[in-house]
Amino acid sequence: MSKVLITSALPYVNGVPHLGHIVGCLLPSDVYARFNRMLGNEVLYICGTDEHGTPSEVGAAKEGLEVSAYCDKYHALHRETYRAFNLSFDYFGRTSSPQNEELVNHIFSKIDENGYIEEKSIKQIFSIDDDRFLPDRYVTGTCPHCGYDKARGDQCENCTKVLEPTDLINPRSTISGSTNLEVRETKHLFLKLPMVEQRLAEWIKTKEPFWPDVAYSIAQKWLKEGLQPRCITRDLKWGFKVNKPGFEDKVFYVWFDAPIGYMGITKQWADEQPENRNWKDWWLGAKDVRYVEFMGKDNVPFHSISFPATLLATGEDWTFVDYLKGMSYLTFEGGKFSKSEKRGIFAGDAVQEFPADYWRYWLMSNAPESSDSSFSFDLFASVINKDLNGVLGNFVSRVLKMTSSKIGDTVPAGGELTALENDLFANLQTRINDYLKYMNEMEFRKALNELRAIWVEGNNYITVAEPWTVIKTDPLRAAAILRICMNLIRIFAALSAPVMPETSEAMLQRFGLKTSDLPGLKDFDVAREMTALQPGQPFTVGDPLFERITPERIEELKQKYGSTTC
Ligand code: MF3
Ligand code: ZN
Repeated sequence: MSKVLITSALPYVNGVPHLGHIVGCLLPSDVYARFNRMLGNEVLYICGTDEHGTPSEVGAAKEGLEVSAYCDKYHALHRETYRAFNLSFDYFGRTSSPQNEELVNHIFSKIDENGYIEEKSIKQIFSIDDDRFLPDRYVTGTCPHCGYDKARGDQCENCTKVLEPTDLINPRSTISGSTNLEVRETKHLFLKLPMVEQRLAEWIKTKEPFWPDVAYSIAQKWLKEGLQPRCITRDLKWGFKVNKPGFEDKVFYVWFDAPIGYMGITKQWADEQPENRNWKDWWLGAKDVRYVEFMGKDNVPFHSISFPATLLATGEDWTFVDYLKGMSYLTFEGGKFSKSEKRGIFAGDAVQEFPADYWRYWLMSNAPESSDSSFSFDLFASVINKDLNGVLGNFVSRVLKMTSSKIGDTVPAGGELTALENDLFANLQTRINDYLKYMNEMEFRKALNELRAIWVEGNNYITVAEPWTVIKTDPLRAAAILRICMNLIRIFAALSAPVMPETSEAMLQRFGLKTSDLPGLKDFDVAREMTALQPGQPFTVGDPLFERITPERIEELKQKYGSTTC
């Protein structure tokens, strides 16, 4: 059994999660965590809300709440939403926790002691109308590199270059829109990235070709451009106070404490375990841990450069990322999801409209892996109707209904297997091996293609074997065919479980089985699994697994969620 540590980028507490966030790191990491548990690996799967920074201050002011009360409120909302999507975190914590503060202070002291911190006076943008320094994200302007006119002061989301707000052309305050800005001097702490550059480059080199192209090329591009010292403090009230004399009125930059949050949240988890687990088993001197991170592509520079550089500068033996899965973006009907413009379906609404598994299946089949992908209700309905209702749901109800009406409500006995089954087993074994390989490699679209093809094998088999005809002349042979089909249902339940846990459970329930009865996915042997459901085992036909989405319903959803194409 190996130890696999899995983290999903920590969503900003102030944002209401939409489908893009779900598929951008949360859902793929969940599928991967579930898959690894089914391989028999020891998994620790960590996520939580990213709570510091100006967005929380601004959001709280808008709602007339204390920042901490505002964070409590939205942390609970995130937690609820992810529960509704069946995200199986071992712990969903917060970057504002005391455990995280302790680690942030520790790490900062270490890197300071080791000489990686320097003080510099910088010019920062002060908004006269807002009467405050504007943190990076709150300055908007034109990107000096690519000309994108809505670049944020911390990063251009168009070309992914990390920026300083003073780099922007025509800057304005994001809070008030005011251009009445002036540059003021203020003293800050910087992480001397150039001092770590060489070690970082060597470390990244060891990652090729294990990092997907997006992640590897973004990191390489950064190194080629040369690393600059990076400011890790801010003039804000909300955040962790800087534990250094002369800087008491500053807080750490949100991107300094957020990734340390992965460890801080693990510590929260460990503290709450009845047996008080040691968080260091996963993070410090933990030689037996494979660490996989999931994130949107805009997060890659922070996870491949600044965060590892911070850890390197401590001189301590932290767990470094082994594989970094960077996802592209999901758009809504070709445009951006926008809460203010009421465009796009947000995660909380999505699970009110359809069961979580519909979304989980659609999102994973269309995951924005090598390029962006677009959500539309037409595509969504066509995939649900074809793959889930037409292929998987139809197979399950056909098999169970036919057996129940023609033979009885137990797995039927007798009959011989033929060359047809040999072919089926061989085809399935090949496809299942491919499915497991793609899941292992986190090639989710390819994996889901295989999963669908596996269900199709079942439909093809029953179409060719024709038990409804055979039963008239050779009832025992029909019994054998239907018994194989029932075992296929159980196999489909096992293979679908990481992606569609509730559907898998519903399929198993037909046979009085539970998720804990599922076979592991390691060395999955089709011939062996085909005999798991034995003659005499009772079953129920049950309700259809999925509901067809009608054209009227599609229109209704488009109206409700602001489609651009209706
Ligand atoms: N909150 C950031 C975002 O949504 C992600 C932070 S990931 C962490 O883009 F590593 F910093 F935690
Ligand atoms: Zn740009």
